[in-house]
Amino acid sequence: MPYRLTVIGTGYLGITHAASMADLGFEVLGLDVDPDKIARLNAGELPIHEPGLEPVLRRGLASGRLRFTTSYEEVAAFGDVHFVCVGTPQKRGEYAADVTYIDNAIEGLAPLLDRECLVVGKSTVPVGTAERLADKLARLSPAGAEAELAWNPEFLREGFAVHDTLHPDRIVLGVRTERAEKMLREVYEPLGEVPIVVTDYATAELVKTAANAFLATKISFINAMAEVCEAAHADVELLSKALSYDDRIGGRYLNAGLGFGGGCLPKDIRAFMARAGELGADQALTFLREVDAINMRRRARMVDLARELAGGSFHGCTVGVLGAAFKPNSDDIRDSPALAVAVAIGHQGGKVTIYDPIALDNARKAHPELNYGESAVEAVRGAHVVLLLTEWQEFVDLDPEQLGGVVAARRIVDGRNALDAENWRSAGWHYRALGRP
Ligand code: UGA
Repeated sequence: MPYRLTVIGTGYLGITHAASMADLGFEVLGLDVDPDKIARLNAGELPIHEPGLEPVLRRGLASGRLRFTTSYEEVAAFGDVHFVCVGTPQKRGEYAADVTYIDNAIEGLAPLLDRECLVVGKSTVPVGTAERLADKLARLSPAGAEAELAWNPEFLREGFAVHDTLHPDRIVLGVRTERAEKMLREVYEPLGEVPIVVTDYATAELVKTAANAFLATKISFINAMAEVCEAAHADVELLSKALSYDDRIGGRYLNAGLGFGGGCLPKDIRAFMARAGELGADQALTFLREVDAINMRRRARMVDLARELAGGSFHGCTVGVLGAAFKPNSDDIRDSPALAVAVAIGHQGGKVTIYDPIALDNARKAHPELNYGESAVEAVRGAHVVLLLTEWQEFVDLDPEQLGGVVAARRIVDGRNALDAENWRSAGWHYRALGRP
């Protein structure tokens, strides 16, 4: 009999993991403490925008292999392997990660575990958390050593969540026993040939934070080059292209622009610095402060460029903003560079109107003080300056001539180096971009 799986926490990670594992043939029970979310999921409705996930969810529900509950009793009775996929957001006013939801999950589940099972952490946590949770699990669970902890970090990207779950680059198993390793190898066997790295808890936790720190560093590296290019009248796009042919460097995560946002990279590098400090290794990660600072400076530079194009002040100026999500193909606005720029311009007196193909409702809820348009054309109507802040394909495909017909002045700042500069210039636009002459 294949193992029965449970998934605790139904955010991007949890829903995708639950639905994908059901698609692979496992019986899966998902849990969340939010009854509304559970009702929607059981009705086949996604609470988030994630391309390709809804059909997988619906297939799982229709097959009878996937369902969702709010009951820890049901989860404990059902599962052989329990995946913990809850969020670990940044603490308010601090760099450190808030691990309350993980502790709540273990405290909800452990006292109900009375038989052999594996509890598998997938959330991104400060190194040392798994060891602490293993003690807690042993203390609280009636099954004693039969209920064991493993750490199995997740590397999926929003927008590609299903693909990344079914075709991971690697699987990392932080385990203490051969039994735990064997159980997890069995769970992931249907994925076929995937490199598996078996580690201790601490290394498994660190692989995840190190991976995100590396990606953030790579993005900030090219954005630092963009700053130098701006000062030297050079072109960061060509620089990046030329670097990318060196396969020791590679071209991915080397797109200069407004920098990184979202629910992971920014808070993960901050939590990593905070944890290193607690461990007495803060010097090792001081460079991440710079990575963060470079990233935040891009937003400020974008506002400065927009103000420059507006003639030195935003007062009496209408600004059309294209994009609110932290990246394309997502409705996620957590720490979105696009929204941060829009809000800053609003504070400085600009009349900002935003359009985003999917994230509009989330943006409107978070920032009711800004204006929203139902299309790109509507958002830029009468604008003195247009800003492209999230590189949705829909924006890349915009016709500069058509857009030029509705704006007050043909001025655009391309915050993602996504547009064909020549195309826009030849349609009479004053085109500016970050890191380019
Ligand atoms: C990131 C990691 O890529 C995943 O591997 C990881 O699992 C995930 O965090 C997580 O910890 O949960 P995600 O937040 O979905 O995934 O977003 P990315 O696609 O990595 O993009 C992050 C940000 O970097 C976006 O704002 C994007 O616009 C920006 N970016 C990306 C750049 O500015 N330049 C680039 O070249 C690439």
